[in-house]
Amino acid sequence: MTDCSVATGRFITVEGGEGAGKSTQVRRLAAWLNGQGVEAVTTREPGGTPGAEAIRALLVTGEPDRWDATTEALLMTAARRDHAVNVIQPALARGAWVLCDRFADSTLAYQGYAGGLPPDGLTALTRFAVGNLAPDLTVVLDLPAAEGLKRAGARAGDRQAAESRFEERTLRFHEAVRDGFLDIARREPARCIVVDATAPVDSVARRIAAAVGERLLTDG
Ligand code: TMP
Repeated sequence: MTDCSVATGRFITVEGGEGAGKSTQVRRLAAWLNGQGVEAVTTREPGGTPGAEAIRALLVTGEPDRWDATTEALLMTAARRDHAVNVIQPALARGAWVLCDRFADSTLAYQGYAGGLPPDGLTALTRFAVGNLAPDLTVVLDLPAAEGLKRAGARAGDRQAAESRFEERTLRFHEAVRDGFLDIARREPARCIVVDATAPVDSVARRIAAAVGERLLTDG
C-alpha cells in the first residue's frame, strides 16, 4: 500500500464540470508558481501515465452506456492508482508541487452524485487504491452545466470530439455533477475553494493564485 506520508510537496487538484476551463487554469497556476520559485508538475486524470492514458481511451470514447457507473469507477480508480504511484507520489516526495486536472472528487461527482453510487463505497475504493494520498487544496471551477457543455462543444476539435462520451450525457446528469462538486466543497471548506468559472480567464487565474498564496505559501 502506498501513501504520501513522506511527501514534502503540495498536491493541488482542479475540479469542475465540462468546459469549466480546468486545463487552462492548471497551466496558469503552474506558471504563477514557477514565478514564485516553486517546481510545479502538471498532470491530469484520467491519465497522466501511459497506462492511465490507455485506460482513459476506454473511458472517454464510445457509446455513453458502454460502461455502467460501477465499471467506470473501477476503471477511473485503476488509472488513478497507476498515476499516483508513478507520477504524483514521486513528484511530491522530491518536493515538487503537483497540479492535477481532476482527481477523486470527479469520481464522487460523476459516478457518485450523478451516477448514483454510494459515496462511502467510492471513498473506500479511493483509499484502497491510493492510501492517504489526498489534495492539500482543491479548486472547484463552477459554472452552469448548460454553459459548460456549450463551451466544451465549441472547443471540440476532431480529436476531442472522439472524447465526448461523458459530454453526451443529459443536461440533468451534468447538473447533478455540478451540484455534487458544490456539495463536496461545502462539506470540506478547509480543503476546497469554489471559483466562479464564468468570470474572465485572467480573473479566475488571479483568484486561484491568491488562494494558493494564502493557503499554501504562507503557512510554512
Ligand atoms: P476531462 O473532461 O477532464 O477531459 O475528463 C474526461 C471525462 O472523465 C470527464 O467527462 C469527466 C470524467 N471523469 C469521471 O467521470 N470520473 C473521474 O473520476 C474522472 C477523473 C473523470
